[in-house]
Amino acid sequence: MGDRSSRNYWCVVLVLLTFVLESISGEDPYRFFTWNITYGDIYPLGVKQQGILINGQFPGPTIESVTNDNVIVNIINKLDEPFLMSWNGIQQRRNSWQDGVYGTNCPIPPGQNFTYILQFKDQIGSFFYFPSLAFHKAAGGFGGIKIFSRPMIPVPFPPPAGDFTILSGDWFIQNHTNLKASLDEGHGLPFPAGLLINGRASNVSSFTVDQGKTYRFRLSNVGLTTSINFRIQGHKMLLVEIEGTHTLQNTYDSLDIHLGQSYSVLVTADQPCQDYHIVVSTRFTSQVLTTTSILHYSNSTKNVTGPPLDGPNIDIEQNLTASGPRPNPQGSYHYGMVNITRTIKLANSAPIINGKKRYAVNSVSFTPADTPLKLADYYNISGVFILGSIPDNPVGGWNYLRTSVMAADFRGFAEVVFENSEDILQSWHIDGHFFFVVGMGRWQWSVSSRSSYNLRDAISRCTVQVYPRSWTAVYMPLDNVGMWNIRSENWARQYLGQQFYLRVYSAAHSWRDKYPIPKNALHCGQALGR
Ligand SMILES: *[C@@H]1O[C@H](CO)[C@@H](O)[C@H](O)[C@H]1NC(C)=O
Ligand SMILES: *[C@@H]1O[C@H](CO)[C@@H](O)[C@H](O)[C@H]1NC(C)=O
Ligand SMILES: *[C@@H]1O[C@H](CO)[C@@H](O)[C@H](O)[C@H]1NC(C)=O
Ligand SMILES: *[C@@H]1O[C@H](CO)[C@@H](O)[C@H](O)[C@H]1NC(C)=O
Ligand SMILES: *[C@@H]1O[C@H](CO)[C@@H](O)[C@H](O)[C@H]1NC(C)=O
Ligand SMILES: *[C@@H]1O[C@H](CO)[C@@H](O)[C@H](O)[C@H]1NC(C)=O
Ligand SMILES: *[C@@H]1O[C@H](CO)[C@@H](O)[C@H](O)[C@H]1NC(C)=O
Ligand SMILES: *[C@@H]1O[C@H](CO)[C@@H](O)[C@H](O)[C@H]1NC(C)=O
Ligand SMILES: *[C@@H]1O[C@H](CO)[C@@H](O)[C@H](O)[C@H]1NC(C)=O
Repeated sequence: MGDRSSRNYWCVVLVLLTFVLESISGEDPYRFFTWNITYGDIYPLGVKQQGILINGQFPGPTIESVTNDNVIVNIINKLDEPFLMSWNGIQQRRNSWQDGVYGTNCPIPPGQNFTYILQFKDQIGSFFYFPSLAFHKAAGGFGGIKIFSRPMIPVPFPPPAGDFTILSGDWFIQNHTNLKASLDEGHGLPFPAGLLINGRASNVSSFTVDQGKTYRFRLSNVGLTTSINFRIQGHKMLLVEIEGTHTLQNTYDSLDIHLGQSYSVLVTADQPCQDYHIVVSTRFTSQVLTTTSILHYSNSTKNVTGPPLDGPNIDIEQNLTASGPRPNPQGSYHYGMVNITRTIKLANSAPIINGKKRYAVNSVSFTPADTPLKLADYYNISGVFILGSIPDNPVGGWNYLRTSVMAADFRGFAEVVFENSEDILQSWHIDGHFFFVVGMGRWQWSVSSRSSYNLRDAISRCTVQVYPRSWTAVYMPLDNVGMWNIRSENWARQYLGQQFYLRVYSAAHSWRDKYPIPKNALHCGQALGR
């Protein structure tokens, strides 16, 4: 056999072998979870508070899974109010029925349950889940999600000796109903009372490592209002993953994690055998909150020494570049070659509407309707929302309340420019999609800003920061049919209207492009009895 025919032969063998292996392994594996959602006493800052627990735990259990796993989570709502769980960064391919936000799912009534049927299709990496309704996130109810690569898929670093999840973020002493009431009355939130690391405030939690070994830390900011900085005394961090993308591996002394973002770093226990501070502090706030945990070497007999090291100084100019972390070249995608079908510019604002503080995007402050938008869309119930009820561009003028839904065509390729003329650090999240962060810059974006875009090796992620009085541009394949929430990850802003829905539509009603309504879908509002 010549070269070419032998290659063809092996290709055929490989295809057959893959086919046989797939049929032996059958369907993708299933993982089942049953979660009781209850109130319970927690003491994150040393005083008793009422937290939202999952099977008695705060934070909730970590979901450990592998690419393509079917993850079945039965949520039993034992609170005295409606509840929904959402899955930050889980793509829900063609299946926004499982997204668990106001616009896609009816709330699970008190005393009832709902089973989410998720598939972590083609995903790897570090994400988290959180309660999406009311202001529940301020009471806990969140937890980590790990998606490991399938066994035969190469990972660009050796298996770590341990894999820790660190959920960190700001915490308030007021309970979630009081915080919500404050927002409902048109007031802002107070400054947070502290920062938590996995639900604890200081020196009480620790992570045990063996000297000489390397560990993965999955870091997420699950807080409500502030960016955080993460660092470990005396240790370097090798950044290896951002929200499902393996990165080219750069070393950091400290890392900024904005609201809703997730990172993985590798840390080698290569220092003298003792205990070290793990430090989290607020970033870009005038008053700096700090909390610590301990990196404990297994044979250490020496306590942590010295004060927790200071974080970086406030300086936003330095990080205004989209070509910071780069993706690992494996499987990169030529997003820079795809033609843009649409440019969407989204500007955040903080208006007073009807005498109350609200937050808006392109002058529209989102208000919920009586029926989830996804159900209204499915059953053709008119009057719940109007497509195009939010403009593609900032229009200026009055801000107003509306159940805002933007229409988009499936298989389009959008350039989205987030404009932030406010003096705050913004963080945007898009459900159901990943996007390439191609540019960031000061002041106003203009057409000429495109010349600074990174069209070669930008990172793909689902949550991106926009620095004060700056812009961030992303390229986003509209590759997921459904009703998708676009929101500020600042929870006061999200709650008071800085969010909307993107309805990605395909005229072909094919099952390849969208899932039918789940058999167990809850019905409410005008969809009741359908
Ligand atoms: C949930 O609560 C019920 C009692 O209300 C209990 O029987 C069950 O074991 C709990 N499930 C889990 C997973 O904790
Ligand atoms: C509630 O849980 C039961 C199993 O205990 C399940 O069969 C049922 O589908 C769940 N309800 C919903 C709406 O998912
Ligand atoms: C929050 O605190 C108020 C009193 O300040 C109390 O009435 C309310 O029940 C509490 N809510 C929760 C969920 O703990
Ligand atoms: C944590 O440990 C450090 C160093 O031992 C100490 O300075 C600090 O006061 C401790 N903090 C708390 C809240 O115990
Ligand atoms: C810890 O100490 C024991 C006894 O001194 C030793 O056998 C072991 O190798 C040490 N472990 C590590 C991880 O250094
Ligand atoms: C470390 O500190 C704790 C409390 O701060 C103390 O109980 C313990 O004895 C100390 N250990 C050593 C080895 O100094
Ligand atoms: C931000 O900029 C500083 C200073 O140039 C750098 O040390 C740090 O690593 C940057 N952080 C990120 C996430 O790029
Ligand atoms: C992009 O558009 C140009 C001009 O309209 C066309 O020549 C080119 O083939 C398009 N590229 C892709 C990848 O579709
Ligand atoms: C909604 O309207 C569309 C187009 O008019 C139709 O194809 C679809 O079957 C309708 N759905 C229901 C549930 O009636």
